[in-house]
Amino acid sequence: MHHGVRPTGPAGMSVRSATEQDLSELVRMDHRLFPDMPYPYFALRQLFELYRDRLLVLDHDGELAGYALFATTADGARSWVLALGVVPGVRGLGYGRRLMAQGLRRLADDGVREVMITVAPGNAAACGLYESLGFVQVDHRVDYFGPGADRLIMRMSLPGWHIE
Ligand SMILES: CC(C)(COP(=O)(O)OP(=O)(O)OC[C@H]1O[C@@H](n2cnc3c(N)ncnc32)[C@H](O)[C@@H]1OP(=O)(O)O)[C@@H](O)C(=O)NCCC(=O)NCCS
Repeated sequence: MHHGVRPTGPAGMSVRSATEQDLSELVRMDHRLFPDMPYPYFALRQLFELYRDRLLVLDHDGELAGYALFATTADGARSWVLALGVVPGVRGLGYGRRLMAQGLRRLADDGVREVMITVAPGNAAACGLYESLGFVQVDHRVDYFGPGADRLIMRMSLPGWHIE
């Protein structure tokens, strides 16, 4: 199913699937959001080729203000949230939640059964968001992304999940 541009309020914000034209700006934004672990251009390009309409961007009057990437395993049963970020200027306004909710809705439509996410142990904003969406911590992995980069693994079961 294709989901087009959805107007999401007077601020000129909408969540939509990424396009090829977004890639350069997406890479710049990703570097700002995740300065310690940014995707190189080639990696984001390849993720775009693989996941396209599960790569969502927050469009603020034509400029990117956030993004989320959902990657489903080949058997279709499990998805990993590979990225979620909102630029500092518009944090705390519900856009992270909106990106997640829209992505999770698509995954539910796809028949995905469980969604996994990794988050740095001290990332209170992200942990709070994921917990409020129904994610539960299932593991704490030391050096998950390399030396010193521990991650909590969180999981949610998608069937029966519902959000307004
Ligand atoms: C995590 C992030 C995407 C949240 O986006 P956001 O648009 O600011 O979040 P929202 O406004 O949608 O808030 C949703 C929920 O997150 C939680 N939250 C947001 N900011 C928070 C904070 N500073 N402290 C604690 N909880 C917070 C709350 O549970 C909030 O729900 P509420 O509005 O009902 O209280 C954003 O902070 C971000 O981009 N951070 C940097 C990148 C990053 O760490 N990404 C996550 C990688 S796993």
